Amino acid sequence: MGQSSLGPFPLNRVTKGDSRKLILDLPDESLDVVVTSPPYWGQRMSEGTGVEEDPREYVEGLRELFGSLLTKVKPSGLLWINIGDAFNTPVNWREADRTYSTLGPDAAGLNPDNSAYVKPRHKRRAFIEKETPWLTYGNMLGLPYRLVLGMQDDGWLSRGEVIWKKRNPMPEGRCRRPHRQHESIYLFARDERHSFRTSPPVGSVWEFPNEKIDGLAHYSRFPLELPKRCLEAYGTTGEDVIAFDPFSGSGTTGVAARRLGMSYVGFEIDGDQVDASNKRLMSDESALQPVQSTRGRPPVERPARPATIRAWAIRQGIEVPDRGRIPDDLRRRFLEATTVAPTGLPGEGSATPEALETPDALGALI
Ligand SMILES: C[S@@+](CC[C@H](N)C(=O)[O-])C[C@H]1O[C@@H](n2cnc3c(N)ncnc32)[C@H](O)[C@@H]1O
Repeated sequence: MGQSSLGPFPLNRVTKGDSRKLILDLPDESLDVVVTSPPYWGQRMSEGTGVEEDPREYVEGLRELFGSLLTKVKPSGLLWINIGDAFNTPVNWREADRTYSTLGPDAAGLNPDNSAYVKPRHKRRAFIEKETPWLTYGNMLGLPYRLVLGMQDDGWLSRGEVIWKKRNPMPEGRCRRPHRQHESIYLFARDERHSFRTSPPVGSVWEFPNEKIDGLAHYSRFPLELPKRCLEAYGTTGEDVIAFDPFSGSGTTGVAARRLGMSYVGFEIDGDQVDASNKRLMSDESALQPVQSTRGRPPVERPARPATIRAWAIRQGIEVPDRGRIPDDLRRRFLEATTVAPTGLPGEGSATPEALETPDALGALI
């Protein structure tokens, strides 16, 4: 293609700015796959999305932002949103909270440098409105659901929900509600005839750990595996395929896109993150060993135990004989789906609790 920009935005780089404004300058029908994770409600310190006191404003702001993306996505395109819910409780973790914490291996608090204590955090209050029953103390606010319903009203087609089951979830101490060990990823399209990989089928439960990378800390990164799977589900790749993230953060969607051979455009409001993610993209590019897209990826021969393949097939909802030989076709599908593509970044994949997003409700004993 040889194209180096998309409208006014450089390809394969992150542009600094507020997505709510920048999106308007994207060319119409120019994006193939959007993969993004907006900030949690009430956790940010500075400007941008997520600082709204009233959770309704947060949802409305996101709805407007995604509404303005509708015409920017190609008819074949996809939009994946990884978004967390929030409890209507205060968020005000400080280092001193360690003194009464029941978290950690000895139930005496996590390490003092754990992001639970040191993550710079907005001092969010519960947002109570007596005449509005859902804005009551302790309510899980259902912010993702509210967003999904609003987006459907705006014309987005809701095409599914994936549960990311965290292999190393953040421990949550003592609380009278289920500890959260998953996050949701919602899939949207403009048109029912959008592009999508059908074989092997994309399952609705994904399991992988969070991870830590070198360089400038970003306290709410998603692991590379998340955008990688979302992008692969598009079923096609190439320089002409444009991946986009309006909340680019440390640039993880960009790294996944480039490794899959796609082009990338990212927007990010925090200048330090813009610089760090552009460095990350450049250094990954120079050491690039592209991950091949699912389509056309040659199966890599390696021994796999029948029991492993059976367990995988059952998880995928694929029929499999209880005993005896694994059919060749099933073995091939297993290899295609589970072959781990090479990664080049030092330090990635080393999951540690410190790298995890700290859920806002972590300290709320409700
Ligand atoms: C949850 S993080 C995204 C992390 C990213 N997925 C990664 O793996 O690094 C959300 C990011 O959105 C940025 N942000 C918040 N409001 C924004 C806005 N209105 N426009 C652009 N970026 C914004 C924040 O600075 C933050 O880095």
